[in-house]
Amino acid sequence: GAPVEVDLTPIVEGQEIKIFWRGKPIYVRHRTPVEIKAAEDVDVATLRDPQPDSDRVKKDKSQWLVVIGICTHLGCVPIGYEGDYKGWFCPCHGSQYDTSGRIRQGPAPLNLYIPPYAFEGDAKIVIG
Ligand code: FES
Repeated sequence: GAPVEVDLTPIVEGQEIKIFWRGKPIYVRHRTPVEIKAAEDVDVATLRDPQPDSDRVKKDKSQWLVVIGICTHLGCVPIGYEGDYKGWFCPCHGSQYDTSGRIRQGPAPLNLYIPPYAFEGDAKIVIG
């Protein structure tokens, strides 16, 4: 499939959009300072799928989180800003992801996947 360009300009802080890449839902979230801090402050050793937030975002662009919106349990589409961690909540069996898209509670074994993407300047990403 072709790469998908996403203009970040209209996505305000505290908002996410959902787009499709290769038939998969992708969430592009403009994180608030509170969301970033929550993601960074977690003790990585306590995580089921240990990964620091810094490995899940681009350097100096930590306000932007891009994840594949497919629950790593059985593939439902999780809902943004829901659940105890205000990341994503999967309505199928209750998996809860944090503001870094990491699994925190429920049956999913792994964090939400990060698709391959790159910034072009500060206001555009290209996925794929
Ligand atoms: Fe998401 Fe089962 S598919 S919790």
